[in-house]
Amino acid sequence: MAAVTIIGGHGKVALRASRLLSDAGHEVTSWVRNPDHAPDVEATGATAAVHDAEHMTSDEMAEALAGADVVVWSAGAGGGSAERTRAVDHEAAVRSMEAAATIGDPLYVMVSYFGAKPDHGVPQDNAFFAYAEAKAAADEHLRGSDLRWVVLGPSTLSDSAGTGRIEVDVADSGEVTRDDVAAVIAHVVDHPDLAGRTIRFNNGDTPVAEALDALA
Ligand SMILES: NC(=O)c1ccc[n+]([C@@H]2O[C@H](COP(=O)([O-])OP(=O)(O)OC[C@H]3O[C@@H](n4cnc5c(N)ncnc54)[C@H](OP(=O)(O)O)[C@@H]3O)[C@@H](O)[C@H]2O)c1
Repeated sequence: MAAVTIIGGHGKVALRASRLLSDAGHEVTSWVRNPDHAPDVEATGATAAVHDAEHMTSDEMAEALAGADVVVWSAGAGGGSAERTRAVDHEAAVRSMEAAATIGDPLYVMVSYFGAKPDHGVPQDNAFFAYAEAKAAADEHLRGSDLRWVVLGPSTLSDSAGTGRIEVDVADSGEVTRDDVAAVIAHVVDHPDLAGRTIRFNNGDTPVAEALDALA
């Protein structure tokens, strides 16, 4: 059993991951910004904690993360202004990494996206540019940290029913269901030996566990 803290706990991926992790016997704490979201989170078996990552210092985050064996970042500004995207997807994420590094030796799991990389190729005048920059910077910070980390790179998310099957290490981004992203998060929590890996994936033909075990 691991103590898992999910930042961005009311997100669509996070709620699915929380249910899987809670059902598997993990102790999940999910951060929500809005106290009205607490019942949704608690219905998945998690304990809700009201925190707004965008407006917390790393010391405040460290206090809130104390005792976590695994930290999952699944928050995102969701394509708001460039300023808020930077503030959440980059700066708050980095503060959470700095905080995690002070609470022991947790595994930090970043929900990034398939194409995240410093040379992402998104033009500066594209609406997606701030997000691409922010995610690349957060991922690079994590890889350069002393934390044990896994960066997840799901392709375009859908709300279709999960298939339980993915493809990893492929060149082209496709689609993946949020159910299957949650299944990948749950597998990673149980397989900390995946630390140090960036896992880009689409839905595919291989059962999630088999696809990820092949990487370990
Ligand atoms: N959309 C795609 O196709 C795609 C593809 C690949 C990867 N991704 C990544 O996958 C992540 C998870 O996806 P999703 O569908 O679960 O996203 P989502 O439903 O939009 O969830 C994001 C969560 O982040 C929370 N959040 C926003 N600002 C916050 C703050 N200041 N402090 C704490 N939490 C905050 C939101 O809280 P509220 O509920 O209060 O708004 C929301 O619950 C995304 O953030 C994105 O980076 C997305």
